[in-house]
Amino acid sequence: MTPEQFIAGLPKAELHMHIEGSIEPALMLALARRNGVAIRWQTEAELRDAYRFTRLQDFLDLYYDGCRVLLQVADFHEVTRDYLRRAHADGVRHAEMFLGPQGHTTRGVPLAVVMQGVLSAMEAAEAEDGITSGLILVAQRHRSEEEAMALLAEAEPWYGRILGFGLGGAELGHPPSKFERFFARCRELGFKVTAHAGEEGPAAYVREAVELLHVDRLDHGNASLEDPALVQELARRRIPLTVCPLSNLKLQVVTDMAAHPLKKLMDAGLCVTVNSDDPSYFGGYVNDNYLACQQALGLTQAELAQLARQSFEAAFMPEAQRAQALAAIDAWVALADTDVTAAATSLLPEASA
Ligand code: HPA
Ligand code: ZN
Repeated sequence: MTPEQFIAGLPKAELHMHIEGSIEPALMLALARRNGVAIRWQTEAELRDAYRFTRLQDFLDLYYDGCRVLLQVADFHEVTRDYLRRAHADGVRHAEMFLGPQGHTTRGVPLAVVMQGVLSAMEAAEAEDGITSGLILVAQRHRSEEEAMALLAEAEPWYGRILGFGLGGAELGHPPSKFERFFARCRELGFKVTAHAGEEGPAAYVREAVELLHVDRLDHGNASLEDPALVQELARRRIPLTVCPLSNLKLQVVTDMAAHPLKKLMDAGLCVTVNSDDPSYFGGYVNDNYLACQQALGLTQAELAQLARQSFEAAFMPEAQRAQALAAIDAWVALADTDVTAAATSLLPEASA
């Protein structure tokens, strides 16, 4: 079995992707046309060509601009349904998706429109493909804490349909400490909380996310390696990291995939997971991310399976479903092992006699 085949059949959870970052160029153009929204690009090739970034802010400028094509319930439904279909095709059994309502409500799109489109697509995906999913609303960190609080209040009608809250957007200059009261309120209400930290920002931001925001998971967290005591703490408390390798490459957080810290983070005993972040902008869905790491870092089947197991360990999902998913990984690994044995046996002279 090739690494591609092993990764393709490996049951996995995806825990770090932004719905708005999964608008494929074809859909972007179709929605622009359908909604009469003027965009700078006329063809898919032009759009793909524009996706070159030297840092996070370059990407965010394009990403927020791209959000303008999303206006109707059907638009939010379509982008979410498309992502979940691709995830299902990649062997994802459970996806926890980020949604950034402020990118829509500040353009005059009602939160109800956004939620109706996204939630109906999540229901359709589960009914049609059996993939389960959850929603994490992210506050934009360049905005004020008051605006984050307003988002929390506005989301109240959907509290029963939301897993948690997170923090995304421009990291440098906007430390987690800016949102301490917002996160305290989210936790009081019983929500899971995550924060982007240590993508472009320093290990000190990761530490703040852990110590001040009390996050259940860290999004990215690459910079943790700069602080050995922090790494020990994350390992001891099994605070998961949702790492996004192709995103890191496209945003020049790493110079090339061989320099990616994924393996170092795993070897330090951290609960690392692999995710796509903004798959249409960064050139790959979750399996592309697993494969890029496998190739550049020489990951073994056992290490790939460990990453998949950790994705379910880190998921905000019911225990019975987690146990089922872990058993499915064991079954796939066992099958892959027999496949290797079968292939080896077929090379022996006895086998062909
Ligand atoms: N980092 C921060 N904010 C984001 C990202 C990211 O990679 N993608 C979408 N919003
Ligand atoms: Zn992200």
